[in-house]
Amino acid sequence: MSRIVVLTGAGISAESGIPTFRGKGGLWEKFRPEELATPEAFMRDPRLVWRWYDERRQMIKRARPSEAHRILARIEQEAEHFVLITQNVDGLHQEAGSRNIIELHGNIWRVRCLSCGQRYYLEETPLREIPPRCHFCGGLLRPDVVWFGEMLDPDVLERAFYESERADVFIVVGTSAVVYPAAHLPVVAKQHGAFLIEVNPEDTPLSEIADVIIREKAGTGMKRVYEILKERGDI
Ligand code: OAD
Repeated sequence: MSRIVVLTGAGISAESGIPTFRGKGGLWEKFRPEELATPEAFMRDPRLVWRWYDERRQMIKRARPSEAHRILARIEQEAEHFVLITQNVDGLHQEAGSRNIIELHGNIWRVRCLSCGQRYYLEETPLREIPPRCHFCGGLLRPDVVWFGEMLDPDVLERAFYESERADVFIVVGTSAVVYPAAHLPVVAKQHGAFLIEVNPEDTPLSEIADVIIREKAGTGMKRVYEILKERGDI
């Protein structure tokens, strides 16, 4: 049995109806990241940033996990060692039944208090008060996600690299692979001998080092991945 590690990006939630960031119809075509997804933007106008997050939270609340999310949960059940590293903040992997998850960019349902530092889940949608205030101290809350120009949580990142270096099979699904350090994980896995599978309808910088490229959307692509894992004896 193998150590299976997966890296997912916004493309896996596209089939749940959540827009990706880049490309046609992507969020960054309509919005400027520096006005919404930076600490400076938040300090300048927390209401504006929170309104945008509140809208995204409402949309995500209505979304259901896609077939690809569910196949990943099934692979986890059948695998001996399975880790799911995601750049997504939507929580749909958890909802689909995945358990061993490393969330690189945080979680849109979690908040962090800028005054007392408390972190907790705040699932109220729509929010009654914008910006929301800390339940513990009344301080200003921010979404507990990673913004442009911010460091990833060092412990989270260390676990992600630890797992990637030890992967026998590394599966990349629905990421443009242009945002670092996430995009480095499959490269590290490959350098350490992993069999690299990419699922993406489009070419990415990882395509040239992948052992198998599945040019399909996540749902169809993950069905194929499931078969490949069975054929190889990984699950
Ligand atoms: P992107 O929006 O950059 O890329 C989405 C990828 O999904 C593209 O490569 C598409 O080709 C692919 N895609 C689109 N539809 C798909 C489908 N139905 N099935 C499979 N793939 C599909 O999203 P990410 O790579 O996740 O960071 O972006 C990385 C990070 O950039 C995000 O986590 C976010 C963003 O700025 C932060 O918020 C820190």
